[in-house]
Amino acid sequence: MRKIIVLDTTLRDGEQVPGAKLNLYEKLEIANQLKNLNVDIIEAGFPASSAGDFKAVEEIAKKVGDKVMITALARAVKSDIDAVYHSVKHAEQPLIHIVLGTSDVHVQKKFRKTREQILEQGVEAVKYAKSLCPNVQYSTEDASRSDFEYLWQTIEAVVKAGATMINIPDTVGYAVPEEFGELIRKINERLKNLNPDVILSVHCHNDTGLATANTLAAIKNGADKVECTINGIGERAGNAALEEVVMGLFLRKDYYQATTGIKTTELKKTSRLVSSLMGLDVQVNKAIVGDNAFAHSSGIHQDGLLKSRDAYEVIHPEDVGVDDMEIILTARSGRHAVKNALAQVGFTNYTDEEFEQIFAKFLELADAKKEVYNHDLFHIVQSTIRRDNAEGPELKDLYELADMQVVINNNFPSASVKIKKGDEILTASNVGDGAVDALYTAIREATGVELNLLEYKLNSISRGKEALGRVSIKVSRNGKNYSSKAIDTDILKASALAFVNAVNMAVVDEMVSKREQAVV
Ligand code: KIV
Ligand code: ZN
Repeated sequence: MRKIIVLDTTLRDGEQVPGAKLNLYEKLEIANQLKNLNVDIIEAGFPASSAGDFKAVEEIAKKVGDKVMITALARAVKSDIDAVYHSVKHAEQPLIHIVLGTSDVHVQKKFRKTREQILEQGVEAVKYAKSLCPNVQYSTEDASRSDFEYLWQTIEAVVKAGATMINIPDTVGYAVPEEFGELIRKINERLKNLNPDVILSVHCHNDTGLATANTLAAIKNGADKVECTINGIGERAGNAALEEVVMGLFLRKDYYQATTGIKTTELKKTSRLVSSLMGLDVQVNKAIVGDNAFAHSSGIHQDGLLKSRDAYEVIHPEDVGVDDMEIILTARSGRHAVKNALAQVGFTNYTDEEFEQIFAKFLELADAKKEVYNHDLFHIVQSTIRRDNAEGPELKDLYELADMQVVINNNFPSASVKIKKGDEILTASNVGDGAVDALYTAIREATGVELNLLEYKLNSISRGKEALGRVSIKVSRNGKNYSSKAIDTDILKASALAFVNAVNMAVVDEMVSKREQAVV
């Protein structure tokens, strides 16, 4: 099985996204996580672009470059190559990455030079880089729109000048998988004859959504190395998403006969970190790392999954660091999914007639509120079959947001909450860094549940009429993570309800565990 080298360029191509600029500490945090993910090479920046970028690449090379190879980008000019060398040289294995166009658009229109002049410039750049560092990558920018014979002539010349990696970029996302695969097959055949030690790499952009497909087609046709970014971020429509390429190979090793060294269980964590530090949301249906990537809401699918997970699941959520698949209870869920959710929250002993009453109430609530959560089922069960908790967990332990007030001002945003727990009324008021922080601090204080907020997101839905709040928390007393959502027309209420829902999930989970232990 071939091992494919993975270069991550989140900190270079990814950081080119408008508004996604990171500070030094954020870049170091991401670089460290990329190391945990076990990428082979980190492209840490473009050091000639600014003193800040130079410093960031230098710090990453010093602090993260013990096991992972570190590179940075240079145009084919001496000053850029110097900047790369002096910033990456602190790594155990530094690599200089040079880029120069090969398409006529680049040669004639962008550089206003002849093909011969550009080729000569590329060769000189490689020779200079090679005099500084043994590892040199040469990228033939816009390769997929280049004349093949000129492209090959360039590759041959820069390999003879000392390049150790040849990177074929589909710079503007022009390629299609069959054609790009064929291009890589032809280059690979010639390159392996010229010098079998030179690594053939690809770098694909996603302008028509084909970056992952083109990258995988290249691997199938002999590419040894791929360049990707976390969450597929990058210039314009982005780059090939690392998580998609890696899991594509993981799922279809049989077809690609290739694998990577990526620790796949770190994928979700890495995606979250990049998304939160860069302030770039991941689309909910994004492959592998989107919030809905392992969530099932159709009744037909839920029934199939509960009978046999492989009916609708080809990648296990745990393989990418997601806790479990999610069965979302909506009005489309069937009886099987509702019975399964009831069992999860500790209700198994009911008659068929009682279940039909519960199911009817469930549908009514699902129509009104779109998604039904486990603690909602508690309310339904208790209000429908009116047992005195003989065999179900205790409803009185759940929290309900009874009232809230938020004061937004520049100095002391503050919040007061009133929360019901059974017959008790819990109240708290607090200030925070902002309205949501004040609200969450007050809820934490009122409930007395020690927890850390891992993630908070707010999206507008229903054409902006409603807001969807999402939170993930880690509860200190059991060390477990819980994620929950809530919808409301008021953004602060959606945020508060999502938080209270997540706390209730922890309460329900603990009740069920306690009950299971008591039965054993
Ligand atoms: O898209 C591109 O061509 C690049 C090169 C620098 C590899 O980002
Ligand atoms: Zn690029």
